[in-house]
Amino acid sequence: MSDDPPCDVLVIGSGAAGLSLALQLPAHVQVTVVAKRDLCEGNTLYAQGGISAVLDAHDSVDSHVRDTLDAGAGLCEDEVVRLVVERGPHCVGWLDAQGTQFTRAADGTESGFHLTREGGHSHRRVVHAADATGRAVESTLVDRVRASPNVRVLEHHIAVDLIVNSAGKGLPRQCVGAYLLDRATARVAAVRARFTVIATGGASKVYLYTSNPDVATGDGIAMAWRAGCRVANLEFIQFHPTCLYHPQAKSFLITEAVRGEGGRLLLPDGTRFMPRFDPRAELAPRDIVARAIDHEMKRLGAECVYLDISHKPGEFILEHFPTIHAACLGFGIDMTRQPIPVVPAAHYTCGGVMADHRARTDVRGLYAIGEAAYTGLHGANRMASNSLLECLVFGEIAAADIARRLPGAPEPPPVAAWDESRVTDSDEEVVVSHNWDELRRFMWDYVGIVRTNKRLARARRRIALLRQEIREYYSNFRVSNDLLELRNLADVAELIIASAQRRRESRGLHYTLDFPFQDALQRRPTVLIPDSYAPPDETA
Ligand code: FAD
Ligand code: SIN
Repeated sequence: MSDDPPCDVLVIGSGAAGLSLALQLPAHVQVTVVAKRDLCEGNTLYAQGGISAVLDAHDSVDSHVRDTLDAGAGLCEDEVVRLVVERGPHCVGWLDAQGTQFTRAADGTESGFHLTREGGHSHRRVVHAADATGRAVESTLVDRVRASPNVRVLEHHIAVDLIVNSAGKGLPRQCVGAYLLDRATARVAAVRARFTVIATGGASKVYLYTSNPDVATGDGIAMAWRAGCRVANLEFIQFHPTCLYHPQAKSFLITEAVRGEGGRLLLPDGTRFMPRFDPRAELAPRDIVARAIDHEMKRLGAECVYLDISHKPGEFILEHFPTIHAACLGFGIDMTRQPIPVVPAAHYTCGGVMADHRARTDVRGLYAIGEAAYTGLHGANRMASNSLLECLVFGEIAAADIARRLPGAPEPPPVAAWDESRVTDSDEEVVVSHNWDELRRFMWDYVGIVRTNKRLARARRRIALLRQEIREYYSNFRVSNDLLELRNLADVAELIIASAQRRRESRGLHYTLDFPFQDALQRRPTVLIPDSYAPPDETA
């Protein structure tokens, strides 16, 4: 790889964000897309509910904007929210034109799409492909990318670090590519690029229980931080209220659309409880529902609560939720006849690498899009189905900005080869697996749905020790996929804890018993600045 000529655009990540960007660059642009595993693996593949967009004559941009701001608990950036919401119908149209098979409405609504409803939305505005929207979107984009002659695909390659040049401390920094580990050969090589895009998704694997697949280890956030980018709002980790609770079920989500279509949350004795917590009951924003479940489980010492839609006709359930129905049956639960046991789990990283309205970061030549980015859209709590929308909108915006800048962008200079002269093969892989488990458990116990000063301080002490151990391990041994992910998880965990300690109030997804109320004076994002930060050069 290192001897290859540089590419125009290196896209790290192949979810909705990275692939939509790659497909919207002009056909003469040489693009390299990198994915840690198969091209299709990532959060996008598992998305269920859908994509929010104003597609109904009775709905309006103002209403979608209002709902998003309301869910975001005062921390959304109004202009970004409006920008994203206004582009929603266009982005859904683009996906439709690529061949995504969305569910159509039987009664011929104006847009032709069947629209479902989820928490926080005051209208039906979620376009979907039954209950497997992510699979429909991702497989369409993967097919299109594989058929694009200007896109080179590197699967099973993990980015180790960004390559950043700087003329000196405090001077603007320039990204010229990244070091990639080829997982098949265990060799690291540099890929140079005029522009590099972080599209690596979220970091929910930092928690013991999560709806996310294994790739969601926050690599892009950690790499960008080490490269000198500011990060924002990392205390706002969204816990999805309803993941399947079963000893053999790993990370299986029960979409919020089940509640949107009439599903009710029940205690183990069959009593409905959400109306006690919020007038919107099961359709309150996620932070409220997840906290209510956590509260009731702790109050009763219950292992789970139940989600029941069995009062709806069986055909309706099979038509709308075929994937969930089949998965639950596989665990012996028939959702047409009985309630589904559910628990909350870490689901979405609302904060991330700070990116402006063109998706540019603090480092020149480096963009951040999708779940890895902080754009200001989600504030203190993302509204359901606004994430895929954000991926698509900023994928398109970044592609346009890069296409405009490319003609003037110089070829990146040669870079140093990866140096392995002072490392050996690890003789103690157990250190990696032990630290991985320990980290995810204390993050769950101390930095979860309900926080306290004491718990955060404990987590801070633990993470400092772990990071020191991981640093030593990293400098002595050859890198492996697991070690790289652990190093990134630890960096992001520290950023999450530090952000949570900064916010001395409860707002949106950040709830602490020590400051249980919202404080109007803290209505601003939590921004962390790395030592290597230099103000970006805004000239181009
Ligand atoms: P991802 O789709 O996660 O892709 C990340 C990519 O980065 C992968 O290709 C991965 O291999 C690659 N990568 C990561 N690190 C590296 C590295 N170091 N080197 C190389 N490659 C790397 N949102 C909605 O709007 N609607 C929904 O209905 C919805 N349902 C969801 C259901 C589930 C179960 C989950 C987990 C999430 C859901 N979300 C939903 C959230 C949404 O799916 C994600 O936020 C979104 O798909 C993120 O897309 P992305 O392109 O940013 O990242
Ligand atoms: C879901 O289908 O409940 C997930 C939707 C989302 O995370 O936006």
